[in-house]
Amino acid sequence: MLLELQNVCLELKRNHKYVKILDEVSFQVNQGETVGIVGESGCGKSMTALSIMRLLPEKAKLKGTIKLEDEDVTKFSKKALEKVRGNKLSMIFQDPLTSLNPLHTVGKQIEETLMLHTDLTKSQRKQRVVELLREVGLPRAEELVHEYPHQLSGGMRQRIMIAIAMACNPSLLICDEPTTALDVTVQAQILELMNSLKKMNEMGIIMITHDLGVVAEVCDRVIVMYAGKVVEQAGVKELFQNPKHPYTKGLIESIPKLGERKQILGSIPGTVPAPDKLPSGCKFADRCSYAMDTCRRKMPPMVHITNEHSASCWLLEEEEGEQFVTSGSKRIETTLHH
Ligand SMILES: Nc1ncnc2c1ncn2[C@@H]1O[C@H](COP(=O)(O)OP(=O)(O)O)[C@@H](O)[C@H]1O
Ligand SMILES: [Mg+2]
Repeated sequence: MLLELQNVCLELKRNHKYVKILDEVSFQVNQGETVGIVGESGCGKSMTALSIMRLLPEKAKLKGTIKLEDEDVTKFSKKALEKVRGNKLSMIFQDPLTSLNPLHTVGKQIEETLMLHTDLTKSQRKQRVVELLREVGLPRAEELVHEYPHQLSGGMRQRIMIAIAMACNPSLLICDEPTTALDVTVQAQILELMNSLKKMNEMGIIMITHDLGVVAEVCDRVIVMYAGKVVEQAGVKELFQNPKHPYTKGLIESIPKLGERKQILGSIPGTVPAPDKLPSGCKFADRCSYAMDTCRRKMPPMVHITNEHSASCWLLEEEEGEQFVTSGSKRIETTLHH
């Protein structure tokens, strides 16, 4: 197991009060596997990533365990964290301009990472920088080394960020909306690059996105988050073919369909509740067209539909008996990459 989150809870200070941002978040990432985290804006996707990276605001209260290759990241000292970041763990953010230093050349920034995290000599580093630029599909690598971030397009900058992230061969790469700021064509190229890097390296990837289209392109397995909780998880094919949570169904229905002139199906009505205004039962109840009395009173338990598929909804409690009978034949094959 590469990464395992167990009952991760996060509280942050908002208006002088602590509020729950993540509530008992549990999931796993295997080596070589790409796991998507989806949900609308404000559901806690970035905070999940920042908890794994331990890049949280100062007064954050983090509980539960986050095991990276069997070591609990929540117990790491500052020094141990610095070593693990950029070594075992790398992260790519939505806006590459804010993570790149505008005053340094592309070459210098990649080389810096190599200097911090590898034993390569100066000339080896120079060579590796050019290699990395080629690996992420950038043209005229030798010249690019001497250029500054503002001289490049958004897509090229994101490739540079990927090169920096790949520089130390991370075991886990976390991508937080890496293509959201890019136009559709460039987005497709970056996703294609991610897919080829995934094949070349044995790393695990967490792909955070609000876009189920991105999930379908690159993910093996999907975690659906709503209001700080995991509400469903399944293999990617299973999730699209057999979504169980009304929230997941809503997300799938709001994907714009190719060639459809009129978009009859809009988005899910309403918005994600703020962390200090969460309802007591199911967090989604107010927006759910299937909501029953129970939903508003009690939080639904996580129902295991198969080994790989679980969802947290009171509707499933009723179906459960039937589900268990058929679960044997419905079991999806685990895609393990070796
Ligand atoms: N520094 C912060 N202090 C307090 N609350 C925050 C902070 N950053 C984000 N939040 C809140 O945490 C929740 C989850 O945010 P986030 O993880 O960024 O969502 P997502 O990435 O899914 O859009 C949101 O309600 C957001 O307002
Ligand atoms: Mg985010």
